[in-house]
Amino acid sequence: MTSATFVSYSAPGLCQSVAMLPSVGHLLSLLLVMGTEGSMPSPQVPPRGCYMAEEAGERTFRCSQAGLSTVPTGIPNDTRKLYLDDNQLASVPAGAFQHLPVLEELDLSHNVLAHLSGAAFQGLADTLRHLDLSANQLASVPVEAFLGLQVQVNLSDNPWRCDCALQEVLRQVRLAPGTGTGIVCGPGARPDLVGQEFLPLAGEEELCGTGRGGAQRSTDVALLVTMGGWLALVVAYLVHYVWQNRDETRRPLKRAPALPVRSEDSSTLSTVV
Ligand SMILES: *[C@@H]1O[C@H](CO)[C@@H](O)[C@H](O)[C@H]1NC(C)=O
Ligand SMILES: *[C@@H]1O[C@H](CO)[C@@H](O)[C@H](O)[C@H]1NC(C)=O
Repeated sequence: MTSATFVSYSAPGLCQSVAMLPSVGHLLSLLLVMGTEGSMPSPQVPPRGCYMAEEAGERTFRCSQAGLSTVPTGIPNDTRKLYLDDNQLASVPAGAFQHLPVLEELDLSHNVLAHLSGAAFQGLADTLRHLDLSANQLASVPVEAFLGLQVQVNLSDNPWRCDCALQEVLRQVRLAPGTGTGIVCGPGARPDLVGQEFLPLAGEEELCGTGRGGAQRSTDVALLVTMGGWLALVVAYLVHYVWQNRDETRRPLKRAPALPVRSEDSSTLSTVV
């Protein structure tokens, strides 16, 4: 401001138009600085590729296909619907949406999500109703992420490991209508589950037990059965061996008297018999 006024005063009369140029320039840049400073506390400029809208009277923030690799900042805190689908998000960190106290719907589908923090949806327990995690790279999600949420989720199209964690998650959440058949076990799952729908399996088999994965547990069971079988075989052989030896140690004793009597043995044998 001071430099601008100085310039315009230093060149009075003659070159007023020339003098005005720097002052206008300064004013513009000042306005710009003030403008961005003013919008910092409540940002009105959405991140590139995102836009705000009022949909059915609800504040909506759309960042679909915006090339995002992280959850953007500057999402208005009165956002009720947030669309982050079709981006390159690889993970959702703890508290990623906790500054959005009225968020009801969150679409994270068609990203490359492979990791979800146990506190990813922290702060959304009272409001979040719809969550779309479909078409990602999720093999497993921590059940902690869903504790306390009254949410309907879409978990379709992910390479699920179909483990205890997923079974627990399904006990915690409601699935969006018609999305159950889309939960299919991926290449990281137990060999006999790969390519199978998870819901029928999860209904039949308890995958959680003694704090370990079900796949691990059934491997252990198989190992125990095998080892038990071998042990039984060894015991059976030992018993058989002992019995046979007993017969063999008896036989010469019984037969002994019939053998031609040798001077030395006769006394010991007679005492034994
Ligand atoms: C959003 O933030 C502003 C300023 O911090 C606050 O006054 C307002 O109550 C917040 N809105 C919601 C829905 O939390
Ligand atoms: C669930 O996700 C799949 C894959 O993205 C999609 O085709 C389907 O329409 C979704 N269903 C619901 C109810 O959101």
